[in-house]
Amino acid sequence: MFGGTGDLSMRKLIPALYHSDRDGRLAPDTRIIAMSRGGLTDADFRGKVDAEVRGQVPADDPDGWQRFLGRLHHVSVDVGGQNRSGWSALSRLLAGYEQRDRVFYLASPPATFGPFCREVHRAGLVTPRSRVVLEKPLGHDLASAQRINDEVGEIFDERQIFRIDHYLGKETVQNLLVLRFANAFLEPIWNSLWIDHVQITAAETVGTPGRRGYYDQAGALRDMVQNHLLQLLTLTAMEPPARNDREAIRDEKVKVLQALRPITGGEVERFTVRGQYTGAGDMPGYLDEPASTPPTEASRRVETFAAIRAEIKNWRWAGVPFYLRTGKRMPYRRSEIVVQFKDVPHSIFPGGSPNRLVLRLQPEEGIELHIMAKEPGAGEVTLKPVPLSLSFGKTFTTRVPEAYERLLTDVLAGNPTLFMRRDEVEAAWRWIDPILEAWKADPVLPEPYPAGTTGPAGAHELLGRSGRAWHEEEL
Ligand code: BG6
Repeated sequence: MFGGTGDLSMRKLIPALYHSDRDGRLAPDTRIIAMSRGGLTDADFRGKVDAEVRGQVPADDPDGWQRFLGRLHHVSVDVGGQNRSGWSALSRLLAGYEQRDRVFYLASPPATFGPFCREVHRAGLVTPRSRVVLEKPLGHDLASAQRINDEVGEIFDERQIFRIDHYLGKETVQNLLVLRFANAFLEPIWNSLWIDHVQITAAETVGTPGRRGYYDQAGALRDMVQNHLLQLLTLTAMEPPARNDREAIRDEKVKVLQALRPITGGEVERFTVRGQYTGAGDMPGYLDEPASTPPTEASRRVETFAAIRAEIKNWRWAGVPFYLRTGKRMPYRRSEIVVQFKDVPHSIFPGGSPNRLVLRLQPEEGIELHIMAKEPGAGEVTLKPVPLSLSFGKTFTTRVPEAYERLLTDVLAGNPTLFMRRDEVEAAWRWIDPILEAWKADPVLPEPYPAGTTGPAGAHELLGRSGRAWHEEEL
């Protein structure tokens, strides 16, 4: 793991690997080698993991935890530096293991992906059974993504490259495919004849404390929309693949991205909204979040909230808007896909409302179908929307694995279905680029919204213009 002592590694990767180990999914002599500039010994690194990660995993397995700590190593490498001793140390650790699966996980900024791959190749460590995992964001626009893909592609074959988007590892996301393609009743109505619109929301209560360096450059569009939200859109909108196989599914997803109607020039103002949170109560505004450097012009211009009205130009979805929104410091943490059906063609009861299917990814994973029912009682028929609901937590007693756990298992098994193919990532950037450019050229700053609210007024107008509203209901 390059960047192996960083935040992602400590919060997500190491706990996921521990759970895999506990469930018996790591081969007996699997080793986990963190690479960083940190100058740590194995013992230092084990101590760090013990101190920082132990609290995140169940305390009922002290022996398993000790065994797991024993798998950990640390090597200091300086990618791009003159000192090659780290690479020699890594070579010594890996000598004799050439026939084993070898995964290089790059939990580091995208600019390091190309240089890392070149250096690991130069050190002679890339074997036919090696894989490389690239964390998002892959580049900051189409051109940089292509450059990175070219650089990594010089060393690794496409089948060895795993571009991770952890949303694809979430249980509900995989269930979306099962719901759509393993049940007969949905597919006939999954189109513009029956569906009015779709809303995809990823709302977070957290702000960006300590992340300004990254976030000023990324913003919500690059951080969440280009990857997580567009992935949810493709899975919702894709055609049924002929087989449950890695390429068949990814082929269908890429077709959705290619069918997205470009939003360019003057349309950007009409179909997109960007916002930045301001201080409210005891919550600081974006510009006042703790950071190692003072805010700059880039900080003032960066969006912490984005909403977009997307359209997919094909037979199935003509005329059905897909509304995407994501924001930091919203009043709730919630990721969901809401499929809003059309109203009945002819209503004989007063007070009905159209059906709605909600696929909730978090905080609690579940699926809910809102149908109309009669409220019990004599006299006038009164309608009430009631949910048919499936809570994964209540229905299945097995532990729901974290997204990273599932995805790391797939990398080890060499299964790339839930990873993004090169053409997918580039198609996503192709659609995002004109929006980024228009926002960059716009002298107007992002619309302010107070921390703890549902985003700027413009986001509500985006739907309000066509008589629609964001789904805000708790499940
Ligand atoms: C990451 C983003 O990819 O996803 C973060 O960089 C964001 O800004 C996170 O907070 C959200 O992930 P999750 O699984 O908590 O929804």
